[in-house]
Amino acid sequence: MINLIDKLHKTNNLDYDELVFILDHIEESGKDYLIEKAHETRMKIYGDKVYMRGLIEFTNHCKRGCKYCGINASNKNVERYRLTLENILQCCDVGYNLGYRTFVLQGGEDDYYLDNMIVGVITEIKDKYPDVAVTLSIGEKSYESYEKYYKAGADRYLLRHETASRKLFERIHTNSNYDNRMECLWNLKKIGYQVGAGFMVGIPTQAKEDLAKDILFLKELEPEMVGIGPFIPHRDTIYKYEEGGTLRDTITIIALTRLFLPYSLLPATTALGTIHPLGREQGIKAGANVVMPNLSPTKVREKYSLYDGKICTGDEAAECRSCIENRIVSSGFSIDMSRGDNIKWRTRI
Ligand code: 5AD
Ligand code: FES
Repeated sequence: MINLIDKLHKTNNLDYDELVFILDHIEESGKDYLIEKAHETRMKIYGDKVYMRGLIEFTNHCKRGCKYCGINASNKNVERYRLTLENILQCCDVGYNLGYRTFVLQGGEDDYYLDNMIVGVITEIKDKYPDVAVTLSIGEKSYESYEKYYKAGADRYLLRHETASRKLFERIHTNSNYDNRMECLWNLKKIGYQVGAGFMVGIPTQAKEDLAKDILFLKELEPEMVGIGPFIPHRDTIYKYEEGGTLRDTITIIALTRLFLPYSLLPATTALGTIHPLGREQGIKAGANVVMPNLSPTKVREKYSLYDGKICTGDEAAECRSCIENRIVSSGFSIDMSRGDNIKWRTRI
């Protein structure tokens, strides 16, 4: 086991059988060793910095039927909302004054926002704040749409692949297509975005082999960012009685991902902070180097409920900003409020 972890640490790669072997056989001491190596790798490449992103959840309308997600189209208990262009810009103003230089515009797949509206938002933000990075996280779109947003100034795009196993993908979604999802990710790369892929740990019926495929898929795609969080059941979904992903499993997968993709930007997700009070801190110690505090207006926060128990729904942007800073600093890391581009991507352009 230690030999395999050392090999991964040195070469940043393993084959499928080796990776499955680790996932199947790793013991607690092996996990601690893996986390130590992931930490060394992050320190070597990004140092002790943790990059801050301001998250704006601008719509919870969604046309898709992801079975695990609380805001999926069939959930009638969701009070739906949409932020106006003005609302979104106000969130950016608040965020900018708090020091954020990346805004993540995230939403369900909501066709109400036509391409020209999305382009309008990006253009306004970039005109007002030329020194910020704009990240979109609005799901599957056509190549042409992605290109329009990019030309308008969007820098990055988050689209979790959710799972690199076709079978599992089809099991956990109703009206989504695996090939299209994958094609979207490759299209985003081709256009020139810094791309974020990712998945959940502990989704019902997920096997070790599926997780191995996820990590090897990431190795092939080489996304600049990777979002990994535990699956957490939502009360209005068919998975309400299922168990969620554990903290230990999730940070083990984060550490493995850091070793496979040493240059990646890896968030310690809100979901990780939701399943354990020190979940994000543990993620950061296992190689995560991004946090995404919420800038959405508090009156809509609770409505953006992908899973139960989500933290921070009552906290103002300023509270999350200082809460997170305290957590990072007391874990022995430092905050970085700059745009925080992926280092490799920065040297590419
Ligand atoms: N638990 C944890 N994460 C979830 N997501 C959606 N539903 C859940 C859930 N129940 C994740 C998906 C999606 C991202 C925005 O949130 O991976 O891509
Ligand atoms: Fe929101 Fe801690 S990050 S209150």
